[in-house]
Amino acid sequence: MYSEKVMEHFNNPRNVGELPDANGVGEVGNARCGDIMRMYLKINDDGIVEDVKFKTFGCGAAVATSSMATELIKGKTIEEAKKLTNKAVVEALDGLPPAKLHCSVLAEEAVQAAFADYEKRKQEAQK
Ligand code: FES
Repeated sequence: MYSEKVMEHFNNPRNVGELPDANGVGEVGNARCGDIMRMYLKINDDGIVEDVKFKTFGCGAAVATSSMATELIKGKTIEEAKKLTNKAVVEALDGLPPAKLHCSVLAEEAVQAAFADYEKRKQEAQK
């Protein structure tokens, strides 16, 4: 049912944890399954995602998709990283069962929420 890549990221999730010096944090949840994902971004002065970590309280696919999402945006510019879609995450994982696609949507939303928080903080700092 799950691709080898999904299983591999589920068993060895990358970038798990928190970033105490994160400058963008996004938390999203899915009301139906009750899963929660939190994404931490550390964006440097050059606008590069220098570090990213996640915490997911959720299903195996949620863990695998958040892990892959962190891998896909790490080292990228803000502009590039913001283009991350759940489709790109699913493709990078060699697919997900249809019933689990919403888990990848959660990963995309968590990344977007973290960028939104980063931008909000930046605007507030300029006030
Ligand atoms: Fe809801 Fe996976 S079952 S995020």
